[in-house]
Amino acid sequence: MNNAIGVFDSGVGGLTVAREIMRQLPNETIYYFGDVKNCPYGDKTKEEIIKNTDRAVKFLIDKGVKLVVLACNTATAAALDYLQNKYEVPIIGVVQPGARRAIQATENNKVLVLGTKFTANSKVYDIEIENINSDIIVFDKACPAFVPFIESEGNLDKEATKNLISDTLGNTNTLGVDTVVLGCTHYPILKKDIEEYYGNNIKVISSGREAAREVSTVLGYTKLHQKKFNKKEHRFFISQKSDNFDSIASKWLKKDINAEVVEI
Ligand code: DGL
Repeated sequence: MNNAIGVFDSGVGGLTVAREIMRQLPNETIYYFGDVKNCPYGDKTKEEIIKNTDRAVKFLIDKGVKLVVLACNTATAAALDYLQNKYEVPIIGVVQPGARRAIQATENNKVLVLGTKFTANSKVYDIEIENINSDIIVFDKACPAFVPFIESEGNLDKEATKNLISDTLGNTNTLGVDTVVLGCTHYPILKKDIEEYYGNNIKVISSGREAAREVSTVLGYTKLHQKKFNKKEHRFFISQKSDNFDSIASKWLKKDINAEVVEI
């Protein structure tokens, strides 16, 4: 089926998932929506997150997408069940794939999840991991300063990044975990620096790769894969003009991106 895959995030974070989908499923077309006007989601209430996510998902579905990826852990934690019940188009979140990846990776059954305030408080990873393997102990750490820092390209300053990471992560490197999950799709943009902070004995993982694999599985199951000769241009939509979005997207995806500003 030639329709695009819709990918949603509050801002640039979902691009880390979009890039992985582009890599694993090169015949597919992506319509990306970044709700930069309402970013960050992580400090909002469940009701606000559901309302904003629903508006964006409806926009993508009205554009004819065949599947939606909530490439945002916060939106997945707050709104996935609600949206799956509301729409017929398949909707995939990033938490389950991330949880599965953590279960594969840990050898000592101790996992730390870094996320937004909403994601950490929701304990969504604890629940998903426990459903599969209840021997695993999960710690959650909210990192509310990371998303605004990444959206404003603060990470271009190496020193500021190092300081922010050590101030935020504090003594989480002494918890005894062997696996750290980047439970927010923005955080892979800081992956190298976070890896440096935790050192060689701790694996830092993100859900992007696993989420893309899940998209592939669902497309296969529903027979919705796209044929190469029908490939169209990817499109990027944002809810407010943002030079940072274009700049980060262009760097991350290694091509010139000029997102279309839309009112939803
Ligand atoms: N990328 C979103 C996530 O995965 C960031 C949430 C936010 O806007 O605070 O949680």
